[in-house]
Amino acid sequence: MQIAKTIAEMKALRMKSFGSVGFVPTMGYLHDGHLALVKQAQDENSVIIVSIFVNPTQFGPKEDFRTYPRDTERDLALLEKERTDIVFMPSDKEIYPEGYRSWVEVEKVTDRLEGSCRPGHFRGVATVVAKLFNIVEPTRAYFGQKDAQQALVIKKMVADLNMNLEVIVAATVRENDGLAMSSRNVYLNPQERQAATVLFKALTLAQNLWEKGESNAETIRQKMTSLISKEPLAKIEYVSIADAETLEELTEIDKPALASLAVRFGKTRLIDNTILE
Ligand code: PAF
Repeated sequence: MQIAKTIAEMKALRMKSFGSVGFVPTMGYLHDGHLALVKQAQDENSVIIVSIFVNPTQFGPKEDFRTYPRDTERDLALLEKERTDIVFMPSDKEIYPEGYRSWVEVEKVTDRLEGSCRPGHFRGVATVVAKLFNIVEPTRAYFGQKDAQQALVIKKMVADLNMNLEVIVAATVRENDGLAMSSRNVYLNPQERQAATVLFKALTLAQNLWEKGESNAETIRQKMTSLISKEPLAKIEYVSIADAETLEELTEIDKPALASLAVRFGKTRLIDNTILE
């Protein structure tokens, strides 16, 4: 496994790579969700590249950039075990040098949900992912369905800017009790960790209601909200049933819908979703 810390080193290694390149962009502190993306990339490509970069521009001023969990040694050991070929680990200065002034804005699909709760978040995500795509030049890039809106934003950017790669979105990997894997789960204390299982319960409720024939989106939203509200440690930011492509809120589910939620447990903000189709 080779490690590139500068863009020049990464590009030199890319030049020497033959065949299809599968790329998994991450912010490190890897869990089984990331490793499932690496495994899928392994199955579908000749060369595997993983980036580890905690991107400062996608965090708001009051968010957890400074405290975001980091453990490079452990990450590298896990990636080595998965037979990753190249790890790209640039510094902040390498990606955003003095005088950096260019940004990628994806409109409309970024207006709602995470976009409205975290202003500027998707501008930071789209910009760094566009830069990583330009540096790594992957054949295929892999993202998790847990960040459903992020996946839509990246697909839109790739289509609109005619980027020459395929975006692949893989199923959310869950703990045994249904909690979606996330690097931020480490912030939860034992009581909050237990309380956080209510997210998957609410999504399962939505899925069951839909499968039993409930197509009124407001009824499903209300039932999810009332279930989560019974958990004293949970503070809801949003519960949404939206068009799975445009993310516009639905009144009637007459097309594939994304049931998604953002809920705080103490200082930790968690998101999760399921598709109703
Ligand atoms: O999903 C993430 O970990 C990040 O948003 C990404 C795609 C690596 C960009 O910083």
